Amino acid sequence: MNYSIIGSGKVGTALARQFARNGIPVGVANTRDPITLSALVSELGDTVIAQTIDQALTADVVILAIPFNAHRDIGRKLAYWNGKIVIDAMNTYGVPPEELGDQLSSDIVARSFVGANVVKTFNQLPAALLAKDPAQDAGRRVMFVWSRDSEAASTVTELVGQLGFAPISLGGTAETGKLLGLGGPLILQNIIKHQ
Ligand SMILES: NC(=O)c1ccc[n+]([C@@H]2O[C@H](COP(=O)([O-])OP(=O)(O)OC[C@H]3O[C@@H](n4cnc5c(N)ncnc54)[C@H](OP(=O)(O)O)[C@@H]3O)[C@@H](O)[C@H]2O)c1
Repeated sequence: MNYSIIGSGKVGTALARQFARNGIPVGVANTRDPITLSALVSELGDTVIAQTIDQALTADVVILAIPFNAHRDIGRKLAYWNGKIVIDAMNTYGVPPEELGDQLSSDIVARSFVGANVVKTFNQLPAALLAKDPAQDAGRRVMFVWSRDSEAASTVTELVGQLGFAPISLGGTAETGKLLGLGGPLILQNIIKHQ
Protein backbone atom coordinates (compact mmCIF):
# COMPACT_ATOMS: atom_id res chain seq x y z
CA MET A 1 0.00 0.00 0.00
CA ASN A 2 1.43 3.42 -0.82
CA TYR A 3 0.23 6.83 0.25
CA SER A 4 0.19 10.43 -0.88
CA ILE A 5 -1.05 13.70 0.54
CA ILE A 6 -2.35 16.44 -1.75
CA GLY A 7 -1.94 19.75 0.08
CA SER A 8 1.13 20.83 1.99
CA GLY A 9 -0.50 23.46 4.17
CA LYS A 10 -1.30 23.09 7.86
CA VAL A 11 -3.11 19.73 7.65
CA GLY A 12 -0.92 18.23 4.89
CA THR A 13 2.21 19.09 6.85
CA ALA A 14 0.77 17.72 10.11
CA LEU A 15 -0.03 14.43 8.38
CA ALA A 16 3.37 14.24 6.67
CA ARG A 17 4.88 14.66 10.14
CA GLN A 18 2.89 11.66 11.45
CA PHE A 19 3.93 9.48 8.50
CA ALA A 20 7.58 10.51 9.02
CA ARG A 21 7.39 9.86 12.77
CA ASN A 22 6.33 6.30 12.00
CA GLY A 23 8.72 5.71 9.09
CA ILE A 24 5.89 5.20 6.58
CA PRO A 25 6.80 6.60 3.15
CA VAL A 26 4.41 9.24 1.81
CA GLY A 27 4.33 11.51 -1.23
CA VAL A 28 3.33 15.14 -0.77
CA ALA A 29 2.13 17.49 -3.50
CA ASN A 30 0.79 21.02 -3.72
CA THR A 31 -0.23 23.30 -6.59
CA ARG A 32 3.39 24.33 -7.20
CA ASP A 33 6.67 22.75 -8.27
CA PRO A 34 7.84 19.95 -5.89
CA ILE A 35 10.95 22.06 -5.21
CA THR A 36 8.70 24.15 -2.94
CA LEU A 37 8.56 21.10 -0.63
CA SER A 38 12.35 20.94 -0.12
CA ALA A 39 12.26 22.51 3.34
CA LEU A 40 9.59 20.05 4.49
CA VAL A 41 11.54 17.08 3.12
CA SER A 42 14.77 18.22 4.74
CA GLU A 43 13.01 18.69 8.05
CA LEU A 44 11.09 15.38 8.03
CA GLY A 45 13.57 13.14 6.19
CA ASP A 46 13.52 11.22 2.97
CA THR A 47 10.50 9.02 3.73
CA VAL A 48 8.59 12.17 2.75
CA ILE A 49 8.75 12.44 -1.04
CA ALA A 50 8.06 15.70 -2.88
CA GLN A 51 5.77 15.00 -5.82
CA THR A 52 3.76 16.63 -8.54
CA ILE A 53 0.01 16.19 -8.28
CA ASP A 54 0.10 13.69 -11.16
CA GLN A 55 2.67 11.61 -9.29
CA ALA A 56 0.59 11.80 -6.10
CA LEU A 57 -2.41 10.41 -7.98
CA THR A 58 -0.57 7.11 -8.56
CA ALA A 59 -0.74 6.18 -4.84
CA ASP A 60 -3.18 3.51 -3.63
CA VAL A 61 -4.40 5.90 -0.93
CA VAL A 62 -4.62 9.62 -1.74
CA ILE A 63 -5.28 12.03 1.13
CA LEU A 64 -7.00 15.32 0.31
CA ALA A 65 -5.71 18.07 2.60
CA ILE A 66 -6.95 20.95 0.47
CA PRO A 67 -9.76 23.51 0.68
CA PHE A 68 -13.12 21.77 0.19
CA ASN A 69 -13.94 23.46 -3.08
CA ALA A 70 -10.61 22.37 -4.59
CA HIS A 71 -11.59 18.69 -4.45
CA ARG A 72 -13.30 18.89 -7.84
CA ASP A 73 -10.02 19.98 -9.49
CA ILE A 74 -8.38 16.80 -8.23
CA GLY A 75 -11.36 14.52 -8.92
CA ARG A 76 -11.47 15.43 -12.58
CA LYS A 77 -7.81 14.53 -13.08
CA LEU A 78 -8.76 10.86 -13.41
CA ALA A 79 -11.77 9.75 -15.43
CA TYR A 80 -12.00 6.60 -13.30
CA TRP A 81 -10.37 6.11 -9.89
CA ASN A 82 -10.41 2.34 -10.17
CA GLY A 83 -10.91 1.38 -6.52
CA LYS A 84 -8.34 3.79 -5.08
CA ILE A 85 -8.98 5.04 -1.58
CA VAL A 86 -9.43 8.79 -1.28
CA ILE A 87 -9.21 10.12 2.27
CA ASP A 88 -11.28 13.23 2.76
CA ALA A 89 -9.53 15.24 5.48
CA MET A 90 -11.41 18.39 4.48
CA ASN A 91 -13.96 20.51 6.27
CA THR A 92 -16.53 22.73 4.64
CA TYR A 93 -15.48 26.08 6.09
CA GLY A 94 -16.82 28.86 3.93
CA VAL A 95 -19.11 26.61 1.87
CA PRO A 96 -22.64 28.08 1.94
CA PRO A 97 -24.97 25.70 3.85
CA GLU A 98 -27.47 25.80 0.95
CA GLU A 99 -24.77 24.32 -1.30
CA LEU A 100 -24.48 21.32 1.03
CA GLY A 101 -28.18 20.97 1.79
CA ASP A 102 -28.63 17.77 3.78
CA GLN A 103 -25.87 15.93 1.91
CA LEU A 104 -22.79 14.60 3.66
CA SER A 105 -19.70 16.44 2.50
CA SER A 106 -17.98 13.09 1.78
CA ASP A 107 -20.86 12.04 -0.47
CA ILE A 108 -20.39 15.29 -2.38
CA VAL A 109 -16.67 14.53 -2.65
CA ALA A 110 -17.39 10.97 -3.84
CA ARG A 111 -19.33 12.29 -6.83
CA SER A 112 -16.13 13.92 -8.14
CA PHE A 113 -14.04 10.77 -7.64
CA VAL A 114 -15.77 8.25 -9.84
CA GLY A 115 -14.76 4.69 -8.95
CA ALA A 116 -12.93 5.67 -5.73
CA ASN A 117 -13.77 4.63 -2.18
CA VAL A 118 -13.94 7.77 -0.08
CA VAL A 119 -13.10 7.63 3.62
CA LYS A 120 -13.47 10.59 5.97
CA THR A 121 -10.89 11.01 8.71
CA PHE A 122 -8.08 13.34 9.92
CA ASN A 123 -10.50 16.30 9.60
CA GLN A 124 -11.56 16.47 13.25
CA LEU A 125 -8.45 17.83 14.96
CA PRO A 126 -6.98 21.31 14.59
CA ALA A 127 -3.78 21.02 12.55
CA ALA A 128 -1.55 21.84 15.54
CA LEU A 129 -3.03 18.92 17.48
CA LEU A 130 -3.01 16.64 14.45
CA ALA A 131 0.74 17.20 14.21
CA LYS A 132 1.43 16.19 17.81
CA ASP A 133 2.39 12.72 19.00
CA PRO A 134 -0.97 10.93 19.43
CA ALA A 135 0.37 9.16 22.55
CA GLN A 136 -1.06 11.25 25.38
CA ASP A 137 -1.55 10.75 29.12
CA ALA A 138 -0.86 7.00 28.91
CA GLY A 139 -3.45 6.69 26.14
CA ARG A 140 -3.80 7.56 22.47
CA ARG A 141 -5.64 10.42 20.82
CA VAL A 142 -8.85 9.17 19.17
CA MET A 143 -9.37 9.50 15.42
CA PHE A 144 -12.82 8.73 14.02
CA VAL A 145 -13.11 7.05 10.62
CA TRP A 146 -16.21 6.99 8.41
CA SER A 147 -16.85 5.41 5.02
CA ARG A 148 -19.69 3.98 2.94
CA ASP A 149 -17.21 1.21 1.97
CA SER A 150 -16.34 -1.15 4.81
CA GLU A 151 -13.18 -2.56 3.19
CA ALA A 152 -11.76 0.92 2.57
CA ALA A 153 -12.73 1.86 6.13
CA SER A 154 -10.73 -1.07 7.53
CA THR A 155 -7.69 -0.25 5.41
CA VAL A 156 -7.75 3.34 6.64
CA THR A 157 -8.51 2.32 10.22
CA GLU A 158 -5.33 0.23 10.11
CA LEU A 159 -3.33 3.19 8.75
CA VAL A 160 -4.73 5.49 11.44
CA GLY A 161 -3.58 2.98 14.07
CA GLN A 162 -0.14 2.68 12.46
CA LEU A 163 0.18 6.46 12.72
CA GLY A 164 -0.34 6.12 16.48
CA PHE A 165 -3.93 7.23 16.89
CA ALA A 166 -6.72 5.19 18.50
CA PRO A 167 -9.03 4.67 15.51
CA ILE A 168 -12.77 4.42 16.06
CA SER A 169 -14.83 3.34 13.08
CA LEU A 170 -18.16 5.10 12.79
CA GLY A 171 -19.45 2.77 10.09
CA GLY A 172 -20.92 4.36 6.99
CA THR A 173 -24.44 5.59 7.61
CA ALA A 174 -25.76 9.09 6.99
CA GLU A 175 -26.33 9.51 10.73
CA THR A 176 -22.74 8.73 11.75
CA GLY A 177 -21.42 10.63 8.74
CA LYS A 178 -22.99 13.82 10.12
CA LEU A 179 -20.67 13.59 13.12
CA LEU A 180 -17.67 14.19 10.86
CA GLY A 181 -19.31 16.66 8.50
CA LEU A 182 -17.60 19.62 10.12
CA GLY A 183 -17.81 23.17 8.90
CA GLY A 184 -17.65 24.93 12.25
CA PRO A 185 -16.07 24.23 15.63
CA LEU A 186 -14.12 20.97 15.90
CA ILE A 187 -16.28 19.38 18.58
CA LEU A 188 -14.60 15.96 18.63
CA GLN A 189 -11.06 17.06 19.31
CA ASN A 190 -8.62 15.70 21.81
CA ILE A 191 -10.45 12.62 23.05
CA ILE A 192 -7.96 10.21 24.61
CA LYS A 193 -8.55 6.45 24.65
CA HIS A 194 -6.98 4.41 27.43
CA GLN A 195 -6.55 0.69 26.81
N1 LIG B 1 -6.24 24.04 9.56
C1 LIG B 1 -6.88 23.22 10.39
O1 LIG B 1 -6.70 23.28 11.63
C2 LIG B 1 -7.82 22.18 9.84
C3 LIG B 1 -8.31 21.18 10.70
C4 LIG B 1 -9.11 20.16 10.18
C5 LIG B 1 -9.45 20.15 8.83
N2 LIG B 1 -8.99 21.16 8.01
C6 LIG B 1 -9.34 21.09 6.59
O2 LIG B 1 -8.19 20.61 5.89
C7 LIG B 1 -8.13 21.19 4.59
C8 LIG B 1 -6.77 21.88 4.41
O3 LIG B 1 -6.69 22.92 5.39
P1 LIG B 1 -5.31 23.64 5.70
O4 LIG B 1 -5.57 24.46 6.92
O5 LIG B 1 -4.20 22.66 5.66
O6 LIG B 1 -5.20 24.62 4.44
P2 LIG B 1 -3.92 25.43 3.95
O7 LIG B 1 -2.92 25.54 5.02
O8 LIG B 1 -4.46 26.66 3.31
O9 LIG B 1 -3.31 24.47 2.79
C9 LIG B 1 -4.05 24.18 1.65
C10 LIG B 1 -3.21 23.34 0.71
O10 LIG B 1 -4.06 22.96 -0.39
C11 LIG B 1 -3.37 23.16 -1.61
N3 LIG B 1 -4.34 23.42 -2.65
C12 LIG B 1 -5.21 24.46 -2.76
N4 LIG B 1 -5.94 24.34 -3.89
C13 LIG B 1 -5.52 23.21 -4.50
C14 LIG B 1 -5.86 22.58 -5.72
N5 LIG B 1 -6.82 23.06 -6.53
N6 LIG B 1 -5.19 21.44 -6.06
C15 LIG B 1 -4.23 20.94 -5.25
N7 LIG B 1 -3.86 21.51 -4.08
C16 LIG B 1 -4.51 22.62 -3.71
C17 LIG B 1 -2.47 24.36 -1.35
O11 LIG B 1 -1.42 24.33 -2.30
P3 LIG B 1 -0.28 25.47 -2.33
O12 LIG B 1 0.59 25.19 -1.10
O13 LIG B 1 0.43 25.23 -3.58
O14 LIG B 1 -1.01 26.78 -2.24
C18 LIG B 1 -2.02 24.09 0.08
O15 LIG B 1 -0.87 23.27 0.10
C19 LIG B 1 -9.33 22.13 4.49
O16 LIG B 1 -10.39 21.44 3.85
C20 LIG B 1 -9.70 22.41 5.95
O17 LIG B 1 -11.06 22.72 6.12
C21 LIG B 1 -8.18 22.15 8.49
